[in-house]
Amino acid sequence: LKLFLPLDSVAIAMGADDVADALQNEAAKRKIKLELVRTGSRGMHWLEPLLEVEKDCKRIGYGPVSEDDAVSVLDAILGDGRHDKCVGLVEEIPFFKKQTRLIFERCGVTDPLSLEDYKSHGGFEGLDKALNIDGAAICEEIMQSGLRGRGGAGFPAGIKWKTVSEAKADQKYIVVNADEGDSGTFADRMIMEGDPFCLIEGMIIAGVAVGATKGFVYLRSEYPIAERVLNGAIVNARAAGVLGDNIRGTGKTFDIEVFVGAGAYICGEETSLLNSLEGKRGEVRAKPPLPALEGLFGKPTLVHNVISLCSVPAILAKGAKFYRDYGMGKSTGTMPFQLAGNIKYGGLFETAFGVTLGELVNDIGGGTFTEKSVRAAQIGGPLGAYLPPEMYNLPMDYETMLANGAGVGHGGVVVFDESVNLLEQARYAFEFCVEESCGKCTPCRIGSVRGVEVIDRIRAGRDHEKNVTVLDDLCELMVDGSLCAMGGMTPIPVQSAVKHFPEDFGIKQKQEA
Ligand code: NAI
Ligand code: SF4
Repeated sequence: LKLFLPLDSVAIAMGADDVADALQNEAAKRKIKLELVRTGSRGMHWLEPLLEVEKDCKRIGYGPVSEDDAVSVLDAILGDGRHDKCVGLVEEIPFFKKQTRLIFERCGVTDPLSLEDYKSHGGFEGLDKALNIDGAAICEEIMQSGLRGRGGAGFPAGIKWKTVSEAKADQKYIVVNADEGDSGTFADRMIMEGDPFCLIEGMIIAGVAVGATKGFVYLRSEYPIAERVLNGAIVNARAAGVLGDNIRGTGKTFDIEVFVGAGAYICGEETSLLNSLEGKRGEVRAKPPLPALEGLFGKPTLVHNVISLCSVPAILAKGAKFYRDYGMGKSTGTMPFQLAGNIKYGGLFETAFGVTLGELVNDIGGGTFTEKSVRAAQIGGPLGAYLPPEMYNLPMDYETMLANGAGVGHGGVVVFDESVNLLEQARYAFEFCVEESCGKCTPCRIGSVRGVEVIDRIRAGRDHEKNVTVLDDLCELMVDGSLCAMGGMTPIPVQSAVKHFPEDFGIKQKQEA
């Protein structure tokens, strides 16, 4: 009997390991030979732990399965399949069926450590194509695909690749930013836990394209399962000749090392990440020089978010045009949106850019978990804008979001019901900045402390109008004077809160953000 159960952090937090033990014990008692494949997650959090069984090449799911359900679910699987936890064909569940999975295609399906599984589900097709063309042609393919950095800034990946590729140096590096610090985001973690070969393949293609022979994954310390899976996958890839010297007999070299960070939000900023990787204090460097020209140890370095690199294998395998046909305008391809906070159906939803916020929050996410009305959604992490339901007809793409004072960021959507107080959320944004600022520049280091104080005055009912004006001035100063996005973007949640929810700040007129 072959069953599939996620090893994903969310599934484990919900008891997947206990379910696994209960199933193995029961199978041993009944002398049933049970092969329990620990997969990644399908990304439907409310169903975790989701146990799957394959019938007629299709997976039938049971979830959420508790330790106490294990025996009766096993009985059902061995019998007529009926059980009140049966959710039917997993890929027919509307939340799943409505997705376009180019990145997460294998996540939840394959054994993350099995190269055979990876290959039999389309793995390494992109790498094989890349190994047969030259570096410039690979960079051109990425350029033509329109891929933009998925970490948050949305910078055209093709330009970055070309810059690193054309830089002259004896050594170049690929650095993966896997420090996923944005609250409410988990796409990087999910793919590293569920399909690590996808990241490895994307990194090798990037290395071959720009002439880098060494890659580092800067991994968030809070991701021990990702660390274990990723390291296991690297060992297996080396053993199979996919990593190391003479990749797949081509004479090309590329290897990967996982580096675990120490838990600082600012180390997600690329230059402080590089400092941290070099063993220095995680403090932001001034740009220029760009890391593409002078990055790790002063060498040309391609720094990318996990999802940017995980988008690469499909682009190479299926072609730039195929990829570019998804999305809208200059936002091409798919984005794994992460639905979190007070939401009924939370999880990962990969779809083409252009989906509206309302579709994500209400149609797919089912509104709030508390079944109260939605009051706000914060888009793109703790430094993202709070948007009210009147704006939920906006399509999610880089340009539309920017034009509306917001950003797609890393694709996080955190939902709040009517009980949220946006003044408290704005205060939290400043508090977060106080806590996480690297301290290098004054507008951020001191400005965030002053921000908390100004909000406390408004909170205490003192001269609302005047203090909101001071707040606005302070935000303007932080935007103009901060060295990096930490100080420069903290005003976004604050100003969007004042603009869209002025009543929480005791003012009537909406302020311009
Ligand atoms: P940025 O716009 O300065 O740079 C984006 C990327 O493009 C960088 O890698 C940069 O080196 C590169 N680049 C810029 N110009 C280039 C050129 N001419 N040639 C080659 N490469 C070039 O943005 P930054 O400061 O790197 O990132 C800010 C973003 O990070 C924000 O938009 C925010 O959404 C996001 N963020 C993401 C977090 C996460 O957990 N994923 C956490 C915090 C912020
Ligand atoms: Fe450091 Fe903040 Fe300045 Fe960025 S904006 S360099 S985090 S002090």
